[in-house]
Amino acid sequence: SIPLFTTVASFRQWREAARKENKSVGFVPTMGALHDGHMSLVRRSLAENDLTVMSIFVNPAQFAPHEDLATYPRTLPRDLEVLEAQSVSVTSGLSSDPTIRTPSAVFLPSVQEMYPSGIHQDPAAQKGTFIEVKGYGEQMEGQSRPTFFRGVATVVTKLFNAIEPTNAYFGQKDIQQCLVLKRLSRDLLLSHPDPEHLHIVPTARDPSDDLALSSRNAYLSLEGRQLAPTLYRALQAAEQAWNDGQQKAFCVERATDVIRSASVSEGPQLRLDYIEFNDSGSLEPLEGTRCVEPGSQPVILSGAMWVGTTRLIDNIVLGTI
Ligand code: PAJ
Repeated sequence: SIPLFTTVASFRQWREAARKENKSVGFVPTMGALHDGHMSLVRRSLAENDLTVMSIFVNPAQFAPHEDLATYPRTLPRDLEVLEAQSVSVTSGLSSDPTIRTPSAVFLPSVQEMYPSGIHQDPAAQKGTFIEVKGYGEQMEGQSRPTFFRGVATVVTKLFNAIEPTNAYFGQKDIQQCLVLKRLSRDLLLSHPDPEHLHIVPTARDPSDDLALSSRNAYLSLEGRQLAPTLYRALQAAEQAWNDGQQKAFCVERATDVIRSASVSEGPQLRLDYIEFNDSGSLEPLEGTRCVEPGSQPVILSGAMWVGTTRLIDNIVLGTI
């Protein structure tokens, strides 16, 4: 079965052996409760690297005190089964026989291993080293979750230092996370991975209704699950209005209409948290109308919606990222 490493020191021995054999290492960081969105990243990594490492670590620093750290789904035995069952078949240049690749290692550190200076649920009481990507973590998700990207940037920097991946894979589902981390890699002059080797993989959706796959979908009741795809429909309505050349306020109104008409009196309540348009380069908010300068960065249309007490996010990139 797949080797598990719970300490940085033991993982580094494995990593050193891979380096001596000149093997490329793909890395997929996760918080577990694996679904096919996570596995789409694993498949990309398997296809593009000799070896693939997944980390499973529910990172306390990215949860605010009132958030769901204690109840976040933890399904390790099942996660390991899912991971071990995953393979891809790769045909390399020289041989016509495909090789079957499967994940090579799982990094499963304790909180103490990742935070030697300790971790406080109250960020104000925290001591030790944290990473902030200023100007990129405050808008969009950062507005609703002010310490979130500091927690993500910090843990991913540590994971990069522990794993030293050749390539790392992140999901477009969390587009701001991808862009914050690319910025981090560039600003800190990281080489494992450098920004070009940090890859953004398209959002995996439920084929029946296009709901973006998410570990937090597990919180939804049957009724909630039926209402959840409304967020993506609302984003699509906003996208259409934007492409028609409308101002942001109008686009958001269209999205709100979609949510209002999907709402039911019985069962979980739908509430829009935000819908925003942002420049994908600067993350500056945009007001419309559409005409983005030729050669300018694509636009990110993103949103968050509450289904009862569950907060869901999704996004559409207008242009190619
Ligand atoms: P987690 O939510 O477990 O997600 C792990 C990776 O899977 C992230 O890169 C995320 O964007 C990607 N992912 C989630 N749902 C996806 C979907 N439907 N399609 C494609 N990719 C999807 O994101 C985190 O964990 C954490 O913030 C982490 C980066 C591990 C740092 O703690």
